[in-house]
Amino acid sequence: MSDERSATRRRHVLGTIGGGLGLALLGSSGVSGAATDRVVDAAADDRRYRLPDLPYEYGALEPHIDERIMELHHGEHHQAYVDGANEALEEFDTRRATDDFAEIRAPKREFSFNYSGHVNHTIFWENLGPDGGGTPEGEFATAIDERFGSFETFQLEFSATADQVEGDGWAMLFYEPLADTLVIGQLEDQHELAHQAAVPILTLDVWEHAYYLQYENDREAYVEAWWNVVDWADVARRYDFVTDHLAGIEPAGERLDDHALEPEPDRQAHESAEKRKSDGPP
Ligand SMILES: [Fe+2]
Repeated sequence: MSDERSATRRRHVLGTIGGGLGLALLGSSGVSGAATDRVVDAAADDRRYRLPDLPYEYGALEPHIDERIMELHHGEHHQAYVDGANEALEEFDTRRATDDFAEIRAPKREFSFNYSGHVNHTIFWENLGPDGGGTPEGEFATAIDERFGSFETFQLEFSATADQVEGDGWAMLFYEPLADTLVIGQLEDQHELAHQAAVPILTLDVWEHAYYLQYENDREAYVEAWWNVVDWADVARRYDFVTDHLAGIEPAGERLDDHALEPEPDRQAHESAEKRKSDGPP
């Protein structure tokens, strides 16, 4: 990584981890504030989630993924996750009004499942495109080679990971910021087997609703066809964004030490005032 990118990275690590992570999830255009409106009704006071438009027509991924699959998958299944997440938020609001948190576990789980489904699918749509396929380029391609040995080995591991998801779930390529590396993982359902702090940059839905109408029970054929519609430019943009913002996250203690060594002006003024107070009048 260049010194300039490293310096940029350093500036962002201390102050924008949460924001960077959120924006990274929103899509290839997610570095602009307007992207938030695609997945959240930001204008509304309660900021409820919304179904994003697809960046292509329902039939654009044929013959690899049928138009009818896309129509149902996006319009019915993804919409259901959006609705479920919003219902959970409403349930939380209702309970807060009366401080009634008995049996809160069920709605918390509902939120985790549906919110994760919303995020997973939002990335999935944008990872794909009618001009997809081929191989990645640039720094992302180099990172793939360094981590997995070759693009071909990466594909084999990713496909096997998808084929072997037990029941409904996902295969995902994560950027893992602690070690500044890439990791292939599984998710069961939408949210089990989470990889905390790691950011998904490539997601493959292997729920039956993603392929059964076209491939029946042949998940491996679906996974093989899916490679033909992966938009590597989108994945590479996500990789560049998260490495710029999140690479090299350090344990909190070290970050706090750094912060103490390089106090911001406001912090210095505050600390001086506090010290004067504790020392008493001059
Ligand atoms: Fe799905």
